[in-house]
Order: sequence, then C-alpha cells, then structure tokens
Amino acid sequence: QTVDWNPVAAEKAGYKHFMQKEIFEQPRAIIDTLRSVVDLNQERLRLSDLNISQDLVKTVKRIHLVACGTSYHACLVAKYLLEQLCHVPVDVDLGSEFRYRGPLLNSNSLLLVVSQSGETADTRAALKEGLERGAHCRAVVNVVGSTLARMAHGVLYTHAGPEIGVASTKTFTTQLVALYLFALHWAHLSGRIQPRQLSYHIQGLRELPGKIEEVLSAEQTLREWARRFMDREHFLYLGRGLLYPIALEGALKMKEISYIHAEGYAAGEMKHGPIALVDEKMPVVALIQKGPLYEKMLSNVQEVKARGGKVLAFVEGDRDVRLDDDVLQFCVPQTAPWLAPIVFTVPLQLLAYHMADLRGTDVDQPRNLAKSVTVE
Ligand code: G6P
Repeated sequence: QTVDWNPVAAEKAGYKHFMQKEIFEQPRAIIDTLRSVVDLNQERLRLSDLNISQDLVKTVKRIHLVACGTSYHACLVAKYLLEQLCHVPVDVDLGSEFRYRGPLLNSNSLLLVVSQSGETADTRAALKEGLERGAHCRAVVNVVGSTLARMAHGVLYTHAGPEIGVASTKTFTTQLVALYLFALHWAHLSGRIQPRQLSYHIQGLRELPGKIEEVLSAEQTLREWARRFMDREHFLYLGRGLLYPIALEGALKMKEISYIHAEGYAAGEMKHGPIALVDEKMPVVALIQKGPLYEKMLSNVQEVKARGGKVLAFVEGDRDVRLDDDVLQFCVPQTAPWLAPIVFTVPLQLLAYHMADLRGTDVDQPRNLAKSVTVE
C-alpha cells in the first residue's frame, strides 16, 4: 500500500491556497505578535528592542513613516493612531518617493520604516537616507535578521510567521497590531495615556482574535458575493477616517490577485471624480464604521444607489440593523474604534481571494508580481 503524500499540499494544511491558509492564520498571528511584547496579565508593554526612551520621545518633533505596497497602507493607518494618541505630527511616504524628495530629516526626526520582508529596495534606500541625515531610525519588520532590522537603531517584529502568498494578508494585520502597540508605547512614555487607559487598549487587543474568528466563520457569504460579481471589470472601494487606508488595501488586494481593476477612495472625494464612473455596472464597496463618520458614509451609499450602482456594504455592529433592502450587507463585529481597520481588512481579503479563485487566477503567485522587490 502506498500513501499519496504531496509536501506542498501538506503545507497548505487542507486549504486550497497558501493565501487562504494565511488569511485563516490571522487570529494566531495576532496572538503571537501581542504575546511577544505585551504582558497580558500585568497589562504592561515590553518593547525594549525598539530602544525608545522618555528622552527620545521628548526630542522627537516629527515622525516619518515610510514603506511600499501593503506596508504603506499600514503606515497610513498608523498616522491616525500616532497623531491622535501621541499628538505628534506624522508624515507618511512611499519608499520610492521619499528617497528622491530630499526629506527634511535631522536629530529631531524619527524615521520608522515598515516592511514584511525587511529587504524592499526603496524602503532600504529610505532608511539609508535617514541614517545619513542623523534621524533616529526604527523598523517594524516580519523577517528576523533582515537587512532593515539590522540597519535600524531598534526593531519591533511582527510575529506573522512565514508568508508564502505573494499578496500580504497576515503580515498586514500584524503590522497594524505592531504599529498600534508602538503608538501606545510612545503615548505611555510621553505621559499622554495613564495605566488605566493602557489597560483599556490592551483589553481591546485581547478580544481582537475572537472578532476575526467571527468574520472568518462567514467566509461562505463572501464566496457568494464573489460569485455574483466575478464577471465585473471595475470596483470602487470607499472609506473614511481609519477605514480610508483599508479601502485602498481592499482595492489593492482585488487588483493583485483577481486582476480586476479596483480603486480605493476617501468617500468624501467621491463627488470630485469617481462618482462620474458609477452606473449599474459598477459595484461599490462601502466600509462603514460606527461613530462620527457613520451618517456621512450612509449618504455616500445613497449617492451610489441614486446612480444605479450596486453597494456591497461592510457595516460595523448589529446584525439586525438593515441599511436598505437593495444593499448587500456584511456585518463586521464591533471593536474598540482603533481596531476597526484590522477587523474590516479580513472580509475584504476573503472577497478578493474568492473572486480570484473563481476566476481561476494563480492566487499565490499572481502574474508580474514578486513577494519581495529587492531591486529598484
Ligand atoms: C511587494 C509585495 C507586496 C508588499 C510590498 C512591500 O510588492 O508583493 O505584498 O506589500 O512588496 O514589501 P515589504 O516586504 O517591504 O512589506
């Protein structure tokens, strides 16, 4: 008797693609990232490898976040967190732009580069620029001992584990967790948040993996949505505030693996251009968080509907609250406000994944793309 054993299939652990497996690994990857630096019982942060002191926090007048691709979207979210929790001005740049624009860096600047691989050429060049200009340089990376990790003056690792799928999934959500922890650490050192508030944030993070499990258990709904829209050639993704970068990331995922043209937009900018594209052939993904921007997003949904566009709404909160009978609605579990970008990412990954799978693309190795771009 022979046993049919295929090592690649074994590594996929029953999933059809590595990407699908990696999407489902997210609760575990987040727990590992949290455990590496948070004492969950004592509710304390241990980020000594980042090498940030109270003196440094006092010295730094501006933080520069630099990355490429999906990691850049994580930086866009981090800008909201750092400015609001730490009251420090933040610039966000693409590596390929930053290195050529003569950035104003000095010993009062902190440059934080974010990268899964730690090897991306443009991000490496940005860090080199920062080191040469005397900025304080730190890195958030996934690959231990990678070039960026070695070049920076301090490092915070995401503990996503190896990611095989070219399109980033678990490394993005763990970057968001790491950057949130970075912001909490900075806010704590600068005296902006007290231990009681820190414990509120940590409690939210602790509940996060369970909320992601909830989204994962609704995978079938997203497969059905994908089947319904798989022959469309254009998608628009809209979000506001913390969910604006997630609209960009959702659209990027769709482009990368399904080869459908997708654009992410700040919903408030719709009237300045993209609304001209909306008709019955244009599906519009709307990301709707509870809070001050909720009503604004609902009026964007109405604007799309009024032009015959089909809305796929991802709405935070209660399953029983129906926006409208014509709108496809997916319920995203409610979290502490800062964590919404992480939970909203997951259904968008699943939508893109199933769209690509149904269209029969090479999901794990999309055409023309590389996992790590080490040349310019
Ligand atoms: C490539 C990958 C993307 C990734 C980007 C940045 O384009 O296909 O998934 O987001 O590089 O990579 P990094 O390793 O620096 O995060």
